[in-house]
Amino acid sequence: MNNSALGIFDSGVGGLTVVRAVQELLPSEHIVYLGDTARVPYGSKSPETIRRFSDEDVRYLLTQNVKAIVVACNTATAHALPMLQERYQIPIIGVIEAGVEAVLADPQTQRVGIIATRGTIHSHAYQHALALRRTGMMIVEQATPLLVPLIEENWIDHPATRQVLDTYLQPMLDKHIDTLLLACTHYPLLVPMLQEMIGDRVRIVDSATTCALHLQQELARLDMLADSAQIGTLSIALTDLSEQFEILAKRFLRKCPPLIKRVEI
Ligand code: DGL
Repeated sequence: MNNSALGIFDSGVGGLTVVRAVQELLPSEHIVYLGDTARVPYGSKSPETIRRFSDEDVRYLLTQNVKAIVVACNTATAHALPMLQERYQIPIIGVIEAGVEAVLADPQTQRVGIIATRGTIHSHAYQHALALRRTGMMIVEQATPLLVPLIEENWIDHPATRQVLDTYLQPMLDKHIDTLLLACTHYPLLVPMLQEMIGDRVRIVDSATTCALHLQQELARLDMLADSAQIGTLSIALTDLSEQFEILAKRFLRKCPPLIKRVEI
């Protein structure tokens, strides 16, 4: 059972940032990735629809005999994680817990800015999770819906993206945030630009790396880590397959993806 694959899903290919982090930290784990590219984005959809889609994503992964599931999508975690955890016996891990822990790892953190899709921001899931663990913090949330399309166009070093980021971030910077939480699968690709813009003033926390760490801790706690002699493999299934998704998959994974198959869920 421990050598069975981990299931990881996202609304699209952005969750491959989490896959990359998991592969680096846990190279013995087999991974089955599902990207719901036929229905991406989730970030602008209603909570009911996000929950229904997430449930279908989990059901597909269960047919692949996975030992645990990572919801590598902030919007799906924000709206569907408690329902999924209640509905299924298998361990299901989201990205929010990990992001929150990473923010709180620095005891000096007092003023946190959160950027994410509209769906994630409207859920206030990060704000609630942070406030539960540490009182008295100032939290500023900002929906940043233009960032996913800009990143998917590969405008990660483009003046237009800089201007959009500047507009989104200025109100937070005026409030003197000390930490910026990137609460979306796509945003790790903006880290170089963000570091250039605000890096020396503000700590940047991304949920992909912290999610992999959180997963490692959970698997160790449950005694479910794969045998260290095993060489982990990756298989990618998408609900829609196009040349653009293949290009994006390579960019998010930072290497050539294995053969991608299209699946119906
Ligand atoms: N994966 C989504 C997230 O992390 C971003 C893309 C979408 O809106 O579906 O929130």
